[in-house]
Amino acid sequence: MRKGYQGTGPGAITPDGCAVELYTRLPVGAEPDIIAAAVPAGARILELGCGVGRMTHPLLERGFTVTAVDESAEMTDHIRGARAVCSPIERLDLGETFDVVLLASFLVHAGDAEVRRGLLRTCLRHLAPGGMVLIQREGEDYHTDVPRERVDPAGFTVRITADEPIGDGVHQVRCEYVFPDAEWTQTFLSRPMTRRQFEDALAEVGLEVDAYLTEDRIWVRALPAKPE
Ligand SMILES: C[S@@+](CC[C@H](N)C(=O)[O-])C[C@H]1O[C@@H](n2cnc3c(N)ncnc32)[C@H](O)[C@@H]1O
Repeated sequence: MRKGYQGTGPGAITPDGCAVELYTRLPVGAEPDIIAAAVPAGARILELGCGVGRMTHPLLERGFTVTAVDESAEMTDHIRGARAVCSPIERLDLGETFDVVLLASFLVHAGDAEVRRGLLRTCLRHLAPGGMVLIQREGEDYHTDVPRERVDPAGFTVRITADEPIGDGVHQVRCEYVFPDAEWTQTFLSRPMTRRQFEDALAEVGLEVDAYLTEDRIWVRALPAKPE
């Protein structure tokens, strides 16, 4: 387990505290439609941090070709119909490029800024000419609207129970997922970033925002920065 990260509950837990069985149960939301609307039809997508394929499988159904990457083999074992690669994202070098690189699930907020740089450099390294990076970042009240709770129509409750600054701009966040027959918790580190800080983090590695895709600015399309 990574320092500052923890997971509890039944089954395998990834180094960042995610429970594999939990992710097999979580329904997908609007993510595949947001992605499909932002990229060319039939694009070749490199999905970073794919988990069990919650987004991968709906993207395949929409006609995309997906290479799905996760550092947990217990997660990638659940991927069907896509090429699955088990690797830390920071060290990934497939020697090929893609029309779209997807960095979702708030991974860009990695507690360790050097890890964040590694993640974003991997995005850039795998981008074909004319390609685009899609990033899912935290919403503006992610760290302030705490505690909060959402009851999902699928019959479970998600709670963010704590969010503590622990120094150097990093927060430790604790969430819990309560199902009628099982319960999981995840504790993880997140580095909140204002819009300006996020754009600076992209610039650091040679990326820039092309468009904010949703009104809440959570979904972003980024491109290689144009030379000055
Ligand atoms: C919160 S889960 C989300 C999974 C999937 N994107 C989804 O929405 O269902 C984050 C996933 O990213 C993976 N992950 C986190 N950091 C990673 C890293 N540095 N390299 C590779 N995989 C990573 C974890 O193993 C986990 O499966």
